[in-house]
Amino acid sequence: MVWERLERHARATADRPIASLFEDGPRARDFSVRAGGMLFDYSRTGIDAQARALLVELAEDAGLAERREAMFSGEKINETEARAVLHTALRNLDGGPVLVDGRDVMGGVRETLARMRAFAEGVRAGEIRPPGGGPFTDVVNIGIGGSHLGPEMACRALAPYADGPRVHFISNVDGADATDVLARLDPRSTLVIVVSKTFTTVETMTNAATARNWLAATVGADRAADYMVAVSSATGRTAQWGIDPARVFGFADWVGGRYSLWGPVGLSLMLAIGADRFEEFLRGGQEMDNHFRTAPWAENMPVMLALVGIWHNQILGHATRAVLPYDQRLARLPAYLQQLEMESNGKRVAMDGHALSRHSGPVVWGEPGTNGQHAFFQLLHQGTRVVPCEFLLAAEGHEPDLAHHHRLLVANCLAQAEALMRGRSLEEARALLAARGLEGEELERQARHREFPGNRPSTMLLYRKLTPHALGRIIALYEHRVFTEGVILGINSFDQWGVELGKELARELEPVVAGDIPPDGRDEATRMALAYLSEE
Ligand code: F6P
Repeated sequence: MVWERLERHARATADRPIASLFEDGPRARDFSVRAGGMLFDYSRTGIDAQARALLVELAEDAGLAERREAMFSGEKINETEARAVLHTALRNLDGGPVLVDGRDVMGGVRETLARMRAFAEGVRAGEIRPPGGGPFTDVVNIGIGGSHLGPEMACRALAPYADGPRVHFISNVDGADATDVLARLDPRSTLVIVVSKTFTTVETMTNAATARNWLAATVGADRAADYMVAVSSATGRTAQWGIDPARVFGFADWVGGRYSLWGPVGLSLMLAIGADRFEEFLRGGQEMDNHFRTAPWAENMPVMLALVGIWHNQILGHATRAVLPYDQRLARLPAYLQQLEMESNGKRVAMDGHALSRHSGPVVWGEPGTNGQHAFFQLLHQGTRVVPCEFLLAAEGHEPDLAHHHRLLVANCLAQAEALMRGRSLEEARALLAARGLEGEELERQARHREFPGNRPSTMLLYRKLTPHALGRIIALYEHRVFTEGVILGINSFDQWGVELGKELARELEPVVAGDIPPDGRDEATRMALAYLSEE
């Protein structure tokens, strides 16, 4: 079994420092992948030629090539929901037909994109406007999970290209979210987009009702619908909710929520940056699709990103990975990836229902650099657990006048990767302290605190500039990484049954919290919390 051979190889090389791999000749070039103007460097990991060959074998044995084609060609690879997985069709701008149940879906995709374009450009030009008023100055995206994180992450990432109405987000059912966002806005010039694939998600429907009341209080109940748009797969429910069908942008069930930014769920992004730039974003994604479908495994960026993930998590046992964009506008990328990766690959059974024999996907977390350096990097460098780090870095910022900021950003990113790998030996720490005049026991004691074990793995994704096109490539890269890891683990990356139990219990508990029914049958801790909450 390749898994065992990999594990044996990992044990045999466990004591070999990553830094020593660079002594055998040029390594960075051999252990990195270039594609579409991006560079993915995994040379600062313990992966050597043998490990890479075995990891590639693992992917081949898992049937990655067949699964990949099954996904792109519309087979129902989301078996627990009997659905195709075709977010790639949403960005298949120059591609051929894509068949689901024998029917080409591309006509519908193009038609929806054209409707989104007409609407977004109409709003941006002030042609689609509130009744009797000036243009829409603000847009509020109401949605949660995949109906929130993608648009929010992307709007922030592409802020330099935003020349349309200002976009705001309400996601949390906590009334504080709606209150704080709406307090800043004028209902007479605000467009509310209710985004929910199912149009049943309690957070979104509650926030949507609150926003409708907020609109109605100023523009009148009969006019509120003129300020609202819906994005959903459940067009029957949007109609029941009173949204004009002409203002509904639908998408099919073969687009998973966390993979949906590329279609109507991205409407707020299109309003912000315009339809042409939105299409550049789609083209970036499509380029990554083509690369993923055609590049040999070891030169295939999403595949190598996935194999590095498997090496760190399933082979070496590192349970988490930190995503560290040295790009402030990617501040929401870690949160976006948390849903993409953890909702997709946080499973305990394989596609066939059998318990997984290895761990499923890792815990993903992170913050932009350099902020994280002044918060949790202490643990990354000297904590007792190893956290593989994934740096992201642009060659260029959008602020030519602040090029000195960018130089500092780059220097910090490179410094962290180097420090994690190289560390600082006890001898080096002693020498530093001796040079400052310390000696004897005090020097010894202090030196231990200044020792860095090093040998901590990291990868780096370098790109030229965070343009719409580059963002498209980056997001598609991570999507295919998640897919590849899922295939290797035998997981269905496209369902999310693990979120259901909590939702069901919340539905049961709501009347209990309201005091309408007693907390009979609930556990003691729940009853104590309820009692505490109702104390005067
Ligand atoms: O509860 C999880 C989830 O179903 C996510 O997968 C999804 O992105 C989110 O809720 C929102 O769902 P919807 O778009 O249907 O409101």
